Amino acid sequence: MPKFIDPHDAYLSFREEVQNDSLQLESCKLHPDIKMYFDEVDSGARFTYATFKNKIAKGILQIAQSGWDNGIPYFQLGIAVGKEFRKQGVGEQLTRKALEEFLERFPIPKGEKLGIEAVISTANIASQKLAAKIFPKPPTAITDSVSGKPALHYEFVKEG
Ligand SMILES: CC(C)(COP(=O)(O)OP(=O)(O)OC[C@H]1O[C@@H](n2cnc3c(N)ncnc32)[C@H](O)[C@@H]1OP(=O)(O)O)[C@@H](O)C(=O)NCCC(=O)NCCS
Repeated sequence: MPKFIDPHDAYLSFREEVQNDSLQLESCKLHPDIKMYFDEVDSGARFTYATFKNKIAKGILQIAQSGWDNGIPYFQLGIAVGKEFRKQGVGEQLTRKALEEFLERFPIPKGEKLGIEAVISTANIASQKLAAKIFPKPPTAITDSVSGKPALHYEFVKEG
């Protein structure tokens, strides 16, 4: 089971690095208003999609490899929007666009499956509202393995 990730710190350092021109960002095909940065973390590949106001990253949506379940590879979402850009639809738009880009870039071969998931603290109302717009099925209640705190696990599986 994936764990909570708090992408806010990642957002702050991403925002700073973009302003310092120290990241190589890739333009996206379907949505030219967002850009992508690739790196690798302990769990595997991580794709960071971002939307901008001039050189300021308004928010990031990370899609990171999180493991396998029943032979299906899973990717976990993590999102953070800058405080001054919240409650303006940035999180929802970025999530929808980034998922479209990701699935366009890695089409699922016929007969295969890919899982998308998110683990959200029960206390995080903003993220739950956002997740309810993205994940069609209601979440499952879990206990986060690291913090021991109650959380909600959202997922959907796409088939090729
Ligand atoms: C969660 C977060 C990414 C939402 O980003 P956002 O750009 O403000 O979200 P949107 O504007 O697209 O809003 C999506 C929905 O959430 C609701 N929402 C956003 N912030 C909210 C808040 N603080 N309280 C209640 N609802 C909220 C919006 O009203 C909208 O629902 P609606 O269309 O029914 O009105 C942002 O609050 C954030 O960065 N939080 C800190 C990092 C974090 O918690 N990340 C998630 C860890 S899993």
